[in-house]
Amino acid sequence: LRDLHARLPTGPDAVSFGLGMPSAELFPNAAYGRAVAQLLASDPKALQYALPSPVLKRHIVALMSLRGVTCSPDQVFLTAGGQQGISLLSRLFLDPGRVVVADEVTYEGFSAAIQPVRPRVLTVPVDADVGSDPDALQSLLRRGARPAFVYLIPDGHNPLGCSMPLDARRKFVALAREFQVLMVEDGAYGLLQYDEKPAPPLRALDDEWVCYVGSFSKILAPAIRVGWLVVPTWMIPLLSRTKQGEDLDVGNLNQCALATYLDAEDFPRHLERLRSEYRVRRDRMLAALKAHFPVGTRWNHPSCGFYIWCELPPGLDATERVDAAIAAAVSFVPGDVFRLGGRQLRGSMRLSFSTYAPNRIEEGIRRLGWVLHAVTDPGSPGHVGHVVVGGDW
Ligand SMILES: Cc1ncc(COP(=O)(O)O)c(C=O)c1O
Repeated sequence: LRDLHARLPTGPDAVSFGLGMPSAELFPNAAYGRAVAQLLASDPKALQYALPSPVLKRHIVALMSLRGVTCSPDQVFLTAGGQQGISLLSRLFLDPGRVVVADEVTYEGFSAAIQPVRPRVLTVPVDADVGSDPDALQSLLRRGARPAFVYLIPDGHNPLGCSMPLDARRKFVALAREFQVLMVEDGAYGLLQYDEKPAPPLRALDDEWVCYVGSFSKILAPAIRVGWLVVPTWMIPLLSRTKQGEDLDVGNLNQCALATYLDAEDFPRHLERLRSEYRVRRDRMLAALKAHFPVGTRWNHPSCGFYIWCELPPGLDATERVDAAIAAAVSFVPGDVFRLGGRQLRGSMRLSFSTYAPNRIEEGIRRLGWVLHAVTDPGSPGHVGHVVVGGDW
């Protein structure tokens, strides 16, 4: 994915649906700037080494309660983003002899996090409408598999966009208890829900076997590099030791500026603004797909997060279309990039609807539709030989 990142079109009319970038227009630059300035003016130790901020932990407890999770500050562990949370848990619990279970199509950062510890990976099927299959996990466990943990993305799955129904969540939690297996619940998108009554996170159903991975990247700004884990208290000193070997602290300026920002601002209102803007973008992309993609393409209707998963009609290979799309100043990620196990996914693509304003989304999907139509109908004006970047689309 990083290779693709380096190749993405960058011109003024480029439209990238490739990366899970939050919308830059929704970053609270002014309010965050005020918080940083206030902190630097009032706290002479803001740039010093420091222990994790208790104020920030209390804010995180309040954020978790918005998701129906009851936890205490001594169950919160601060990280430099969700990715570090996954990596620390992997380093703590995995080694080459251990087994880890994940979806057969999953967040590529998970594969990157476990790679240095080289565990044995078992996968469960995952469906673009209803998410991970608890019955498949049950059968692995009944056949004797004893994973160190199971990695799940129940809300706004990356890359599939789906959210897990309540009964599947209950089944996963019941399996965790019955077989005493940890569930690592990646909640990177969990506060970006677009429907009325989302199902509760696994951590709201169990506080002993579920480790929740949270992040400010998608709900505030990724450059702040602050995330968190909610874990049983016995894990906190172990995580501290593992993290200290890596990078000592979460940058104190980032932690404290974030705490100052959260003290001053109405964060639930900021979240509501994000939800309503991303909901509009999702709907615009869904409508544009209907208008511009080849007949026979199928896609899902995500209720959370940044991604729509598309399955192209038979004969269309998403991986082979990457270069033509980049030439047309538009991009996507071919589904196969996210495959951890199972069958090939050459006919699938992940599209992010988060990055651009609705009109740019419409424009990008129109271009991508042309790039795809060029294969199904080589005489169409969208044939790659006819594409004029920045021309009259
Ligand atoms: C599912 C998932 N988990 C974790 C992350 C990590 O994000 P960060 O380290 O910026 O919090 C991402 C980022 O794209 C993600 O999609």
